[in-house]
Amino acid sequence: PKPVTPPKKDRDFLKKMRETDKNVILFYGSQTGTAEDYASRLAKEGQQRFGLKTMTIDIEDCNMALLDKFPEDCIAFFLMATYGEGEPTDDAVDFWELITSDSPEFSDGAPIEDKPLSSFRYVVFALGNKTYEHFNAVGRTVDAKLTEFGATRIGERGEGDDDGSLEEDFLGWKEDMWKAVCEIMQVDQSGVEAGGHVAAYKISELDADDSEKVYYGEYNEHALMTNGIRPTYDAKNPYISPIVATRELFNPNLIDRNCIHMELDITGSGIDYETGDHVAVWPMNAEQNVERLLKILGLWEKRDTIITVESIDPSATKKYPFPVPTTYATIFRNYLDIHAPISRQSIATLANFAPTEEGKSKLSNLGSDKEVYRVEVSDAYLSLGELLESISPNGKPLDSVPLDFIIETLPRLQPRYYSISSSSKSTPKTIHITATVLSFNPTTTPHRKVYGLATNYLLQINRKLRNVHHPETLPSYSYSGPRNKYHDEGSNLIKLPIHVRHTNFKLPKNSKTPVVMVGPGTGVAPFRGFVIERTLSKAQGEEVGETILFFGCRRRDEDFLYENEFAELFATLGERGKLITAFSREQAHKVYVQHKLNENSSHLWNLIHNLGGYFYVCGDAKSMARDVNTSLIQIAQSCGGMDEVRATNYVKDLRSKGRYQEDVWS
Ligand code: 2AM
Repeated sequence: PKPVTPPKKDRDFLKKMRETDKNVILFYGSQTGTAEDYASRLAKEGQQRFGLKTMTIDIEDCNMALLDKFPEDCIAFFLMATYGEGEPTDDAVDFWELITSDSPEFSDGAPIEDKPLSSFRYVVFALGNKTYEHFNAVGRTVDAKLTEFGATRIGERGEGDDDGSLEEDFLGWKEDMWKAVCEIMQVDQSGVEAGGHVAAYKISELDADDSEKVYYGEYNEHALMTNGIRPTYDAKNPYISPIVATRELFNPNLIDRNCIHMELDITGSGIDYETGDHVAVWPMNAEQNVERLLKILGLWEKRDTIITVESIDPSATKKYPFPVPTTYATIFRNYLDIHAPISRQSIATLANFAPTEEGKSKLSNLGSDKEVYRVEVSDAYLSLGELLESISPNGKPLDSVPLDFIIETLPRLQPRYYSISSSSKSTPKTIHITATVLSFNPTTTPHRKVYGLATNYLLQINRKLRNVHHPETLPSYSYSGPRNKYHDEGSNLIKLPIHVRHTNFKLPKNSKTPVVMVGPGTGVAPFRGFVIERTLSKAQGEEVGETILFFGCRRRDEDFLYENEFAELFATLGERGKLITAFSREQAHKVYVQHKLNENSSHLWNLIHNLGGYFYVCGDAKSMARDVNTSLIQIAQSCGGMDEVRATNYVKDLRSKGRYQEDVWS
């Protein structure tokens, strides 16, 4: 069967606003759920504090050409995240195309010079990361375009920087924004004092035989083939993919350092990927954390009770926060992010439910003092379970904390994105992941160890499949139990929910074009795919241009990823292929990839400047990618005879022409 997109929902958001009597709509464009989360928080605050009639909606589910018919007495919010190199999030692509097109057309078809949005009023908060070149490009462009089309922004544009503190940027912005909104909407600015707790969700326990289908971590009914129609798999609907191979890439004698290579089978799924794309992995929470939270909330005894959770507000856009019916254990295991540090605002609210005066003042302090919050919660990666334990007298369950508040306040567990390390030309039905396992002792609480959520999940799957027993007590995961369709004990098969995200990180079309790739650590992942692809071109008799890979790691005998494989691949490429390595810890001083770039400057300059070569960087955004950018500017100065300004512009120009591509993360 051919993949088909499920029928588009009714995308008339104006009708929805009318039918449910709303005067504020909050559109979000979200990749990892943060923008969505902020939209919900603002919606709730607007409603409870100022009596605004709010609704949130994924911008993907809206026909945004209707903006020119937006009622004059209403107001819209845009919570827009920027992904990667200034790109919109997947769900905002249609809207992005509409507003950035040469001649955007709204429903009345009026020419854009007539300012079709002149009665439209909006608020905007942009989410992004300063480490990236195009910081908040999406939020900024949306703002500029709406203004250009005649709309009026209310208050200042908010800008959140995930590299600093997004949460603090958000909290710092919203008070003035509310003032401006209240003025426009003519509601009392002083608002209602945050009073008693207003439940957003109703939780009901069901009898086991009342419910035919119980969700144990599945995400969507679509995931199943219905009537022979295959669904499309995306950020809302993962494909449950069998793991067909897995192994560790670092030297096994290394203590505490692991890197996983995993191969996922997408045969029959209809998923297409291209070399350089990303794969999203949908993890689950570690059992230790699930257990801790169930116990501290007094839910441990009834963890397997079947429950349903639904919005109390009948007009809520999302009737259910996650697939129901489900169980208490499942919501903590699969649907809620119980691992990430809880937000300062949530802690302030949580203070109302503290069991003792002491606990209350502790939480109030954490919730109001930014610095204490940073040291004890955010930099310490303190999870909700640990926080609750710390205010519980003798570790007793806290039945004063309502579960509906927890559900409302915790973000949904989100998939994690990895650069695919295979080549779609070589293995079109298999996706390879290369992931370093993350664990660290936070600087502010060095006695505690924090484990990266998804990578430890991959590590444990690897050990389970390979029957490796490890002495250290690490996070453990529930593969089996009712969720056994993800794990078949008999055949020792484990499946992983995934979806693919397409990127623009691609080899040049012409194989003759030289390529220079810089990928230290797991930044080498997409370049494994690139290099494989170049060898395939060569095998097909095409002429293949120079192919240089700069790889860096600590030591050759410790963490040199795919060493043997690369040796073979480069041997196949012959003299036009070069692997240049930087081993940072084999000598007294650090040797990094950018040092090697400088050593090869005139050769690189010739490839890029004279032969039209492409330059690629993958890996750490913050220091490495920046340093590499600087190196290239220096090369343009030393070899191209440019001054610093010209060299900087030269490199910028390479980027805008797509000849300097980055796939970086922070
Ligand atoms: P280090 O850990 O010894 O400092 C992969 O992580 C490799 O990238 C390691 O060898 C690491 O070295 C190196 N690395 C760390 N910071 C870097 C930077 N700013 N630029 C390039 N490589 C860096």
